[in-house]
Amino acid sequence: MSIEPQLRSDLANIVEPQLVRTLEQLGFLGEVSEVDGQVRVELVLPVTAWPNLALLEAEVLERAPGANVSVRTMNDEQRLELRNFLRGAMASDPGPGHHDHGDAQPRFMAKLSKTRILGISSGKGGVGKSSVTVNLAISLARAGYQVGVLDADVYGFSLPKMLGALNDPIVLGDTVIPTLAHGIRCVSMGYFVPDEQPVIWRGPMLHKAIEQLVTEAWWDEPDFLLIDMPPGTGDVALTLSEVLPRIEMYVVTTPQAAAQRVAQRSAYAARKLKLAVRGVIENMSWFTGDDAKRYEIFGSGGGEKLAAELGVALLGQIPLEMALRSGGDIGEPVVVAHPESDAALAFVALAANVAAQGPARVYRQELRLV
Ligand SMILES: Nc1ncnc2c1ncn2[C@@H]1O[C@H](COP(=O)(O)OP(=O)(O)O)[C@@H](O)[C@H]1O
Ligand SMILES: [Mg+2]
Repeated sequence: MSIEPQLRSDLANIVEPQLVRTLEQLGFLGEVSEVDGQVRVELVLPVTAWPNLALLEAEVLERAPGANVSVRTMNDEQRLELRNFLRGAMASDPGPGHHDHGDAQPRFMAKLSKTRILGISSGKGGVGKSSVTVNLAISLARAGYQVGVLDADVYGFSLPKMLGALNDPIVLGDTVIPTLAHGIRCVSMGYFVPDEQPVIWRGPMLHKAIEQLVTEAWWDEPDFLLIDMPPGTGDVALTLSEVLPRIEMYVVTTPQAAAQRVAQRSAYAARKLKLAVRGVIENMSWFTGDDAKRYEIFGSGGGEKLAAELGVALLGQIPLEMALRSGGDIGEPVVVAHPESDAALAFVALAANVAAQGPARVYRQELRLV
């Protein structure tokens, strides 16, 4: 017996949350039929263990109560078709009538893209760069923005663990679909290197790897792409300055004078690469005791001093918070697990400041009139 065409089109219009396209566009909807009063809906997915399968099933059942939902895995041809669709969907507009299978440069990399690319850097490790990246990213997502995070700290991948995004990303040939966690897309170099093995990066290899993570991950065109950079100044910053010259640099420091001097060096190095340094974020600013008093464990003033020296704003001060550390260890970022905490509120304020200051103005040599 045939089903109502209305049902099929209702199902076809379900939006897949990870790819933000309809089942129809993605080729995810297979046969829809009715046998002896039982509606059957077939989903055709790139892998059987599609991360949002449960969500998709729920959406299907909402439109077809009591339906029998089954999953079929895509064949090679369907996977290639999906890859081509996704690449095309995020490519710069190649012009009318042009079909290039989406091998053009991703739109988010283009000069006029709406995507703001935020490089989160620090002078040294352990100051909370990754914690800031994760919690700032989620805060931006909760403010309604589309957000991706790239874990480019090749010497200490930590974002998947902090986000609880531990499942392997889905790879369609040369296209990586980021893992979705707490509403943000995540890709980490950690997904592609063997577990617990130190990687010794040589210059060209590192350059290629970073470039691939930027260009071959399916970022779509997010509002913000945050990049957790390795501490210090180095090859990754150099690569990013070439691949993503629009990157805005944010420097994380602690209130300590010594930390601030180290951070300053990395900021100056960023400027040498002609990267726009846009702001300072101070972390571990104070600890509020049970007596409600603020204890400045790492001193005070480092963030403000660094910002003044660099001529940028101090965009946020994040207090020390036990839940921030413990949440990072188990994949429950503090802004998700304890949104009422001082640290979480500080991240929300930071996100508002970052959004409010808008993209960096880029003055290009060739546009100068004199
Ligand atoms: N504001 C904070 N309050 C409590 N713990 C923090 C805070 N910021 C960072 N941490 C903890 O300090 C450690 C180092 O932070 P991390 O974000 O990994 O630093 P980095 O990426 O700069 O090396 C982690 O265990 C993290 O949970
Ligand atoms: Mg880190």
